[in-house]
Amino acid sequence: MNFELTEEQIAVRDAARDFAQNVLKPGVIERDNEQRVAHEEIKQLGELGFLGMMVDPKYGGGGMDTISYALAMEEISKVDASVSVLMSVNNSLVCWGIEMYGTEEQKQKYLVPLATGEKVGAFCLSEPEAGSDATSQRTTAEDKGDHYLLNGVKNWITNGNTASIYLVIAQTNPELGHRGINVLIVEKGMEGFEVGAKEDKMGIRGSDTHTLNFTNVKVPKENRIGEDGFGFKFAMKTLSGGRIGIAAQALGIASGAMELAIAYSKEREAFGKPISHHQAIAFKLADMATKVETARLMVHKAAWEKDQGINFDLSGAMAKLYASDIAQTVTTEAVQVHGGYGYVKEYHVERLMRDAKITQIYEGTSEIQKIVISRSVLKD
Ligand code: CAA
Repeated sequence: MNFELTEEQIAVRDAARDFAQNVLKPGVIERDNEQRVAHEEIKQLGELGFLGMMVDPKYGGGGMDTISYALAMEEISKVDASVSVLMSVNNSLVCWGIEMYGTEEQKQKYLVPLATGEKVGAFCLSEPEAGSDATSQRTTAEDKGDHYLLNGVKNWITNGNTASIYLVIAQTNPELGHRGINVLIVEKGMEGFEVGAKEDKMGIRGSDTHTLNFTNVKVPKENRIGEDGFGFKFAMKTLSGGRIGIAAQALGIASGAMELAIAYSKEREAFGKPISHHQAIAFKLADMATKVETARLMVHKAAWEKDQGINFDLSGAMAKLYASDIAQTVTTEAVQVHGGYGYVKEYHVERLMRDAKITQIYEGTSEIQKIVISRSVLKD
């Protein structure tokens, strides 16, 4: 067993850290207040290769391993979880899905601009009446011979307006249940496709979450990924990998809040000494550090399993469940360490506390992770 990072992994982590601290941090409070997407910074992130990290270099990607991706996700999430969710969806759901299951034509046409950051992708599974119960798709993709006719509504779509390439899950053969579901690549600008209302969210306010409306959108057959009926399996497989990304995001939110709490505890004095010298605070920091380190080990194990070609459904679900839970407690404790200052925007921890909550909800709620985990441990 080797816990040491390679030189390349360290370089990726340090580059992500520099970018987060120097480029993302200065405007993050303002973007959160104004619910503004960091378009310019995201462009730079793409140019640095962070939007197609694991994609084969022949398709414009970085050819990196999942550990490097998790390290970068942690560093970016320490500062700006709104940017890291875009990064996670683009890397692990959209790029990975097309690279694993797309045709060569789809890769050339869609994966290359996504991996280079020229375009951003979105993953469209959730619907007003199909969240956790993802097989209950109401959006329909009617087979019309050379094309599908897409009709329906998707909601909670991350990168809803920023994206221009959308992977849309829809039902083609209701009588076949989940085996009748397809996944189609939809482009912004296709007739009948409209980006709807933007959500006003508690956290990740610099990420644009939208409803999407599809009315008789003609999607060419060649835009279907995989065999007819592969859509639900596609969603499950990509979400398994996506959960490592969100686990790394939760880890980053927690470790970012912990780092701020440590720094503050050394500066702030009470009763004649820095508050870090009071056991009440030092023990909080000890608990935070233990939780963060445990989450990091779980995230890296899941990432390592993915890199080794080992089934990572279980380790990814466990990592997401645990990291998103400790992100709640660690960020709440970081606010507590800061006292009144923690409750105001300037000190960053209140934003991290708000951002943490979503990691227990998207890409499978904590309850869904427990379904995946319990089914696995109960399997004969
Ligand atoms: N890999 C491959 N196939 C899988 C799979 C996996 N990890 N998990 C399930 N499947 C297959 C099953 O084998 C089954 O296929 P067969 O019948 O052919 O064997 C099929 O999928 C249906 O599986 P289940 O019977 O287990 O289905 P279920 O209705 O009990 O649901 C579930 C399973 C795990 C609860 C699933 O519905 C689920 O994950 N729900 C959560 C959805 C989710 O994560 N949504 C997030 C939205 S995306 C998002 O948040 C992105 C963003 O913008 C940030």
